[in-house]
Order: sequence, then structure tokens, then C-alpha cells
Amino acid sequence: MKYGYFDDNALEYVITTPKTPLPWINYLGNKEFFSLISNTCGGYTFYKDAKLLRLTRYRYNNVPYDNNGKYFYIKDNTDSVVWNPGWQPVKTTLDSYECRHGLGYSTFTSTKNNVEAKVLTFVPMDDNCEVSQITITNNKDKEADLSLFSYVEWCLWNADDDMKNFQRNLSTGEVEITDGGSTIYHKTEYRERRNHYAIYSVNAPVDGFDTSRDAFLGAYNGPDSPDVVSDGKCTNSVASGWSPIASQQINLKLKAGESKTFIFVLAYVENPEDDKWEAPNVINKKPAISLLSRYKTEEAVEKALTELKNYWKDLLSNYHISSKNEKVDRMVNIWNQYQCMVTFNMSRSASYYESGIGRGMGFRDSCQDLLGFVHLIPDRARQRIIDIASTQFQDGSAYHQYQPLTKKGNSDIGSGFNDDPLWLIAGTSAYVRETGDLSILKEMVPFDNDMSVAKTLMGHLKCSFDFTATHKGPHGLPLIGRADWNDCLNLNCFSEHPGESFQTFGPSEGPVAESVFIAGMFVKYGEEYAQLCELLGDQAEADRARDEIKKVYEAAITAGWDGEWFVRAYDAYSHKVGSKECEEGQIYIEPQGFCVLAGIGVKEGLAEKALKSVEERLDTKYGVMILQPAYTKYHVELGEVSSYPPGYKENAGIFCHNNPWVSIAETVLGHGDRAFEIYKKTCPAYIEDISDVHCTEPYVYSQMVAGRDAKFFGQGKNSWLTGTAAWTFVNISQYILGVYPTHKGLSIDPCVPADFGDFEITRKYRNAVYNISVKQNGAQKGIKKLIVNGKEVAGNVIPYEDGVKEYNVVAEMG
Ligand code: BGC
Ligand code: NOJ
Repeated sequence: MKYGYFDDNALEYVITTPKTPLPWINYLGNKEFFSLISNTCGGYTFYKDAKLLRLTRYRYNNVPYDNNGKYFYIKDNTDSVVWNPGWQPVKTTLDSYECRHGLGYSTFTSTKNNVEAKVLTFVPMDDNCEVSQITITNNKDKEADLSLFSYVEWCLWNADDDMKNFQRNLSTGEVEITDGGSTIYHKTEYRERRNHYAIYSVNAPVDGFDTSRDAFLGAYNGPDSPDVVSDGKCTNSVASGWSPIASQQINLKLKAGESKTFIFVLAYVENPEDDKWEAPNVINKKPAISLLSRYKTEEAVEKALTELKNYWKDLLSNYHISSKNEKVDRMVNIWNQYQCMVTFNMSRSASYYESGIGRGMGFRDSCQDLLGFVHLIPDRARQRIIDIASTQFQDGSAYHQYQPLTKKGNSDIGSGFNDDPLWLIAGTSAYVRETGDLSILKEMVPFDNDMSVAKTLMGHLKCSFDFTATHKGPHGLPLIGRADWNDCLNLNCFSEHPGESFQTFGPSEGPVAESVFIAGMFVKYGEEYAQLCELLGDQAEADRARDEIKKVYEAAITAGWDGEWFVRAYDAYSHKVGSKECEEGQIYIEPQGFCVLAGIGVKEGLAEKALKSVEERLDTKYGVMILQPAYTKYHVELGEVSSYPPGYKENAGIFCHNNPWVSIAETVLGHGDRAFEIYKKTCPAYIEDISDVHCTEPYVYSQMVAGRDAKFFGQGKNSWLTGTAAWTFVNISQYILGVYPTHKGLSIDPCVPADFGDFEITRKYRNAVYNISVKQNGAQKGIKKLIVNGKEVAGNVIPYEDGVKEYNVVAEMG
């Protein structure tokens, strides 16, 4: 069952009912000011950091789903019917409803009793604000007597403290009100250590306002039944402590056919420390007034929206495909790249599932996200790499995450996640292959933000490489630290008491537990490290690295091989994990995908076997499960992985993030049919028809789809902020469609299903545009002829030449 449809020309997903199985959301903001907005106008807003600088409140664990939001109430004063353009919170049945989620904006068009409301919401490119333009049209044949009420509830900045520290927070709320209520300033804590405030303003005179939540809602009421809206009359309340809000009332008499438009702006403003006040206790409003002056007219809003749309069009033009597969085209050209940008902005911090409170920018998460956005924003990717590397420790290990506001490692979560160092090589290599910019490798980068112990970025990569090379266990395989990518496989944790964090409980690593998955990463990213060494002219270091890689390769195909597939790990007792010897959890997806994509076991014939085993044992109609058989009991020596009920999350769920690893592995072996089949199973556009089963948005990937053992097999969870976005984009764009950036130039080596058909790709790469036309000739893999600007080229790499601005490429498969 579907709840909407793709409008590819408009670059939008159109939702046709507010009653989607879960809130279907969108992200607004491209730089420092962000909002999440659902198809029922729920969501929250923050500046830079969803934990530390939260502007509006959201209620997690909420009933009904998805409140709070930024709401408009429309009241017909003749019959007292009250409704919201996004349906929530009043939930009056609408006569029509449509929500369009576009790139960085959302629109809502709804009608009730011949009154239409059209809301457009977006965060403009260059101001720290969210603009909401609402147009109300009277389609009745007589005059309409309406009142419009706005409503936002302020968060007292630190979203974590705001939910807990009531003994203080119920007394600190402060506001200022100007222009009769048209502009409401939220200035809690401004009198002390803050130099910022928020505003909510409308570009018109108002008939009144409220800034006290209790006054607006009435005690014991929720936003679904505010007293003020029922009474039709706001109270001009001035908040003093408790819960400050911003609400404006505008009474409207609209003639038949008449429309009126209002522009609401929610903004964040900072003042210089020495210019905070315009009078005692009166905040300096100059920057706010100047910001608001830029969004006073419909023309100004239209211009800002056009700028935003052009920004996205330009960005997405970096990789564009035109094929006979409409769904591939829409994911590649629009939604997959869009999701990659959202993971660039948010990492794993702020979504409907990640409350924005617990997690900052993940170290390994952001390194992997880089793989999906480096071609879109190479300059910002460069800075991101430096920021991430700055939180590494001198021994090569790293914090799990850092706070976006401070860019400092988050010590609450600690360090010792020992797969992280190698991911730094992955991200850096991707950046250098994309841009050819070797200067980044020579940048001085601190350790743990301490510049006195800085090394070049290349020095950091060496630490990453050496960390793994020097931390090996009894089988010569890399030691597992606080788990590796699968942070739920906690082999040194032994947690027996509820509430202990599996990720940080127990020693970071022991002398025995080893990971075959890290072995795969070491072979893959070790080679990328060696190539960077060569680029810098350090052949000796490249040779040394390759010697180290050989040892780990050898260990992987011996101790790491189980007969029909790769072992997942050895636990702290040196028992195999992910082996036919195990009672449960006999085969895991990660080492099969990663070892094969790293090339391990290909020439020995093990790779074919491993992928066959995946197909036989882990495949389902909704994707490839992370392990089988599911753990039915808690294994203290394995940790969190066995704590989930069978079929959910890391315990045999379909973890979407590592499905592309297996698909990439299939392309390594030249199996285009199978690679694409795996791609399609988790691809949102391909499963739009089963939205009632899948539940999450049909335009973005989710972290997990429940596996075969789960009651709700096929149900998605944790949409948006997942490494799945980057990895699926890498898979489809670089391996299946086969346009892969190497240090020498783009290589063209697609691996597609036999019936895929010819396709054209436009790819921007290092100041040039590549127009690539692939003639498939029914082949799944292999390029027999490559013609670049009219001349045949040997091999499949298009040699990059400085100064050449356009490459017209014809690639003949066969
Ligand atoms: C989740 C993981 C997550 C970890 C750390 C676990 O409970 O299953 O996906 O990475 O917590 O936040
Ligand atoms: C969530 C983590 O952020 C990610 O790095 C990992 O992919 C999964 N958990 C798997 O355990």
C-alpha cells in the first residue's frame, strides 16, 4: 500500500494522507540552522548542535506520535471548526491534504469547508532562520470570518537539561515582546552567560499574542485543544518562568475568492559580548530586525526559495544518470544523494530516533558518510576530515564521537572503538581520489584537539594503520576493541547488570578477541594507505604497509575461514563467533561482504563460496540479514548482539548498512544480476508499494529492516541517519554503475544485470564534466572499448588531464 508518490520533475515526494504509518519527515537547513519537519508539521529546530542549542521543544516517546511541532491553527469563527494544515495536533478531518517534501523545503496544502491553507517552510541558504509562509484562501461564495493562531514552544537551549532540571528551569524562562506581539523574543539565560536569543515573528500586525504556554493551552490541555483557540481570543500573556512559547493571533475577514499571505520567521540571533543590551535588561534587537527585514514580502521569500532550489540542482548535477530504470534514476539523482547530505549535516545526532541529545558526530560514522558526499562538497569534506582526525589519540585510537558545537571528543562516550582509525583512511583516500588534493595529507592536525602534539594528516593515517597492525591476537587477526563496525558485538564486555552500556563497559580490548571483519578492512584500507604513501613518494612505507597487509590477508584465509564462509571473530576465550561450530549465530554478513570487497579469497575461490553461503543462509525478500541463526538467548561473552529479540537490529535484522557491502562484493566477482538484486531489496523506491509493511519513508533508507525471525518481518526502523545512505550510493554509483574515482582519473567498470540496458552518466570530477555513455551489449561486466574525446584509450581509466574541461566518453561493455 502506498501513501503518496514520487514527483521526479519537481524533485519531491508527495504524501497524500497525514496518516502515514510513522511520521515521514524532511530536513531543512544546509549550513548551521536546521529543522526537522514531518508530514504533520511535527519536528524541532536547532542551531548547529541539537543538544546544546535547541530552539524548540519536541516530545520523545510521545503519544500520539510526533508532537511537538510548529503549528498553525485556523478557526472558522462562524461555526467554530478548528483545523491545522498539517492535520496535527487538532486532527480535524480535512477535506483535502497534500504534503510535498522537497530538497530543503516542505509544503502543505489542505482544505476544510472551502477554506484552503498553503504552507511553505524552508531554511534559506544564508540566514539562521526558518521561514514559514502561509496563504489562506476563501473558496466559499461568501465572506469567511477566520482567526489564525501560530504556536511554537521554546526549548531552554540545552535540550538535555531542559527535560530534566525542572527545579531550575521552571523559573528561568524570559521573553520580550515588540510590535504588539508581531515579534516575540525568547531570551532565557541571556541575562547571564548566553549571548544569543531566538525570535518568532510575523510580517503583519496581530490581534494579540501569548508567550505563556499555560495561558495559551490552559492547564491540563495539550496542543490539540488550546483554550485560547477555543475561546477565539488570546490573552497577551507575558511568560515569567514555566514554559515560554510564541503564539500570535490574526483575525481575518476574507471576501469570497480572497487570499491573504503571512510570513512567519523563526530565527536564532547572536550578539557580540559587549553589545548585548540596548537598555538595562532590554536585549539588542538590531541583528534580529535586520534579519527579519529580509523576509517581509512574498517576492523575498520566492527569491530565497529559488536560491535554495538552485543550490540543490547544482549540487545534484555532480552525478546524474539517465537509464531505463526510473527507480534507479530517482534514487541516484535525487534521494540517495540528498540523504547523504543530511548525514553530512547530522551524522547520527538529530533525527526522530536519535533524539539529538545522546550522540554527536560519530567518528566512524562520519568517516563513512564522507564516502557518499565527498563528490558533492569536496571543500567541506576536507574540513570534516580535519575535524575528525583532530579527535584521534596519539596511539591511533579515537573517540566514538565529537560534539558539533565544540568539535571536541565526547568523553561521556569515551574512546577505544578500534575500528575507527581505519575508517579515517577510507574517508581521506576517498577525498584525495576525488579531488587530487595532496595538500590535505600535509596539513598539521592535532591529537585530541591538542595542537602541541600535532602531526600531519598523513602521520595520523600512519597511526591508524599501525594501531591495527600492532594490535593483533593469537591468530594474527586484528584485536577487536569496543566492538568494531558492529558495536553490538561486545567480546570484552561481559555485562551482567541492566543499564551498563555495552559500548563502554569492560576493557576496550583484551589480548585475545579478534575480528575477521577488521582484517577485511585492514586489507582494503591498508592498500589505500599504501597508495597514498606512493603518491607522496614514500615507496618504503608503501612496501612496509603491503607486507603487513599480506600477513593479515593470510590470517583471514586461514584462521578466518570456516570452510564455507568467513568466520566473524574469535571471542575472549578464542572461541569462534560466526562459525558452523556455533550453536547460534553461525554466519555473519560483515566478513563475507568486507573480505570479498577487499579482494580476500577471490583467487583462492573462497569469495565465491562465501557469497553463495550468504545467498543460501542470509538472504530474504527484504534484504540480507546480518546473521543467522538468530540468538535466542543472551550470551554474556557476545554482548548486545544477543540482547535483542530475534530478528531485530543486530540480532539477525536486515541491517541495511552492510547490504551494499555484499552487493559490492558481488560486483567484484562480476555478478551483475545478483549485485542489483541485493541493491533493489532494500532500496526505498523499490519498496514504496509495501509502505504499510515497511512503515518508514519510501524516499530514504532506514538503519534496519526487521529480519525473518521477527514478528514484523520487513518493517523498517531508524530512518535517515544511517551509513546506509553513503554505502548504497557508493555501491550504485561506483560499483554497479561503475564510475569510480581513482588517483589517476575516473575509471569506468560497470557491473549491471544482463537486461539493464544502455545508460548515460554525467559526472563532475576535478573541474571537468564527464559525459559518459555506456553501451551494455547485454554484458554484466567488462569494458571492451573505451573512447575518450574521440580517441580509444587502453584499460578503463580515463586519464585525468589538467585543463581539459569536458570529457565525452563512450564505454562499450562486452
Ligand atoms: C545500537 C547500535 C548503536 C549503539 C551505540 C546500540 O544499542 O544497536 O546501533 O551504534 O547502541 O549507540
Ligand atoms: C550503529 C553505529 O552508529 C554504526 O556505526 C554501526 O553501523 C551499527 N550501529 C551496527 O552495529
